[in-house]
Formats: sequence, structure tokens, C-alpha cells
Amino acid sequence: MIETWQTARLVEQDLAHLIHPVTNLRRHRESGPLIFARGEGSTLWDTEGKEYLDGFAGLWNVNVGHGRRELAEVAREQLERLAFQPTFFGLATPPPIELAAKLAEMAPGALNGFNFTSGGAESNETALKIARYYWALGGRPEKVKVISRLMGYHGIAMGALAATGIPAYWEGFGPRTPGFLHVSAPYAYRTGAGLSDEAFVVKLAEELEATIAREGADQIAAFIAEPVQGAGASSRPRRATGRRSRRSSRATRSC
Ligand SMILES: Cc1ncc(COP(=O)(O)O)c(C=O)c1O
Repeated sequence: MIETWQTARLVEQDLAHLIHPVTNLRRHRESGPLIFARGEGSTLWDTEGKEYLDGFAGLWNVNVGHGRRELAEVAREQLERLAFQPTFFGLATPPPIELAAKLAEMAPGALNGFNFTSGGAESNETALKIARYYWALGGRPEKVKVISRLMGYHGIAMGALAATGIPAYWEGFGPRTPGFLHVSAPYAYRTGAGLSDEAFVVKLAEELEATIAREGADQIAAFIAEPVQGAGASSRPRRATGRRSRRSSRATRSC
């Protein structure tokens, strides 16, 4: 299907009415938007018909590619059947129950409970709230601090923003939500010069352990980190970074 778009009109309407988050708005006024109109697999086309490779995959969330008719079909069927029900107040619909059961089969060990959200920031906010609530229910309401990594990105909502370790995202939004601490990024290119993978991982783990000791393990609710840091330089972690961080954080469980 060949569609034609009035790009100039869309640009005009974008500049007049569409507010873009995480965008330099002054520069945007000069450069205007890049408007994608169509996608197939990992290929995108803008409104002028120019083709792109979608290396960004949406915002790393178009994991099965664009133009998947089977997904459009199930979404259409569900929207025709029932537009929306929350899971608040014990309400449910069949799809989230069935999906949660399927994920429980696929996920390892005790990962058997699932809470569905509308995006990444909301997921992280929810995860942090669950961690704090877990401790509060266990009679440890003082265990609220959250440790995350510098250069880590966790979303634009206030709690996720406080966990985010990229200062440019904080500027202009007033005081950050208290109780959030940062440790170094697993960014060997900048901070691991001359160190082997093993030595760099030990250095990061020692810093995490020192932070836990300084703040008090009995005050810490959670450690949150991306397996591969995305927004913060897309840096590949050195081998075993995640495993070692998990081991260091585990010490806070018994305190
Ligand atoms: C690792 C990570 N966490 C959280 C988010 C926030 O997700 P959302 O934009 O859906 O709120 C992103 C978005 O890029 C992300 O990369």
C-alpha cells in the first residue's frame, strides 16, 4: 500500500502542538521532527518514502519487528471483544491471567508472579515499590534505599528518574526523590583502562559492597541495574558483572 503524506503540514502541526520529551526543544524547532510512517520487520520509511534500518527498535521495545499482522489481528479481536479492564481491585480478563501463567512456565525458579504495566518507567516504579513493600510487610519499613548505577537509565517518572544515573535527565525537575544512591557504571571503556575483565568486575563489586556497608545493609531495599546499559552509552558489561552484583546485593537480604 503506497500512502502519501503531507510532510510539510505534519511538521507544522508537530511544531505547533506536539510536545516531545527527552528532546532539546530549541533545536527541535529548528530541525523539526523525523516522521516515520511505516515499518516492516526492521525497516522503516519516513513520510517522504526514505528507507531506514530501525537500529533503535522503537525504544528497544519493538522486539519482533514492525508490520506483524498476527499481533494486529489479536489486538483487533480483543478491542472488539472488550476494550479495557484494570487489574486493580481484583479485576481481571482472560489474557493477562493466561499470559502470567505462560510466563511462570517459562521463567526460572521462583519467578512465578507477574504484574503488567504500560511501560518501562512504570515497571521500574512498581518493582521498587514492591521491594519496599516486601520489607515493610516483613516488619522492616526502614529498608527503603535503592542503589543503581551511574549511566543507568530507568525511566522518566519521578522514582525511575531518581534511580536513573544520568545527570542530564535530572536537570530542571527540582529535588530528586530521596533514598536513591549510585555506584559506578560498568563502562570499561572509560573507567576500566588496563584492567582485565575479572579485575574490573571485582572493582565494581567492591564499590557496591562498600556502598552497602557505608549506607547500612539494614537500610537498603533494592539494587536495580540494566543487564546491558542502553541509554548510557550502550556499553557491554564485562563478563560476570551481573552475577557478581547480585552476589554483593544478596548480603542486604539478611540485614
Ligand atoms: C532500561 C530501561 N528502563 C526503563 C526505560 C523506560 O521505559 P519507558 O520509556 O517505557 O517508560 C527504558 C527506556 O528506554 C530503558 O531503556
